[in-house]
Amino acid sequence: MGTRQIKAVINGREITSEPGVTILQAARANGIRIPSLCDHPALPPSGACRVCLVEVEKNPKLLPACTTPLTDGMVADAFSPKAIEARKAVVEMILIRHPLDCFSCESNGRCELQNLAYELGIEESPFRDDGDVCTEHELDDTNPFFIRDMNKCILCGRCVRACDHQSGYHAIDFQFRGIHTMIDPPIGSKLEESDCVFCGQCVQVCPVGALVEKKAVGQGRAW
Ligand code: SF4
Ligand code: SF4
Ligand code: FES
Repeated sequence: MGTRQIKAVINGREITSEPGVTILQAARANGIRIPSLCDHPALPPSGACRVCLVEVEKNPKLLPACTTPLTDGMVADAFSPKAIEARKAVVEMILIRHPLDCFSCESNGRCELQNLAYELGIEESPFRDDGDVCTEHELDDTNPFFIRDMNKCILCGRCVRACDHQSGYHAIDFQFRGIHTMIDPPIGSKLEESDCVFCGQCVQVCPVGALVEKKAVGQGRAW
């Protein structure tokens, strides 16, 4: 006997799915879009960003689609007014610290944060005050393969998970706390002195311009 399939509705579409998947995985498998940011299909979910919030019938709280299991009879909507409003606020919060030099950024045109801001009609964060933009990190150009601009990092953690789960190293992680949290090798060491083998897996999954391959610099949009 096969495993009992789950029936659910996502964004108004009826789907059937194998059990044991998240709302986002089921949506992707059925060609249904739920906006997301920290999640990457090749990596385990972390639920860090809250961009994927969906409104689920009979549930008073919005739920993150990337970490919430799909259940039988579930009715989830990523584009209800409540879900869109919450997503907009989440992206506006991320943009408080993020530099807005998109036109000179190597990721201009392929940046997932830029795409989300555009989709949600955000030009600038209304929560931003003078001095909020992150400028504390120097551009790290010291390795031959990629550039690290931690001022642009949105702390989605994709690179950490890629290093752990795809490369099998644990060269980088979240370091420091609070507003100073950043992705780096263990405190006090440089990337060149860490376990990093410069495989580039972290660069491939970075959704913004924080990690950029040197050979891609100046090449413009990848299409
Ligand atoms: S390039 Fe270095 S930090 Fe990035 S995934 Fe590979 S080993 Fe990890
Ligand atoms: S460097 Fe890129 S992938 Fe890593 S946490 Fe920052 S934004 Fe995410
Ligand atoms: S994509 Fe779900 S919390 Fe980030």
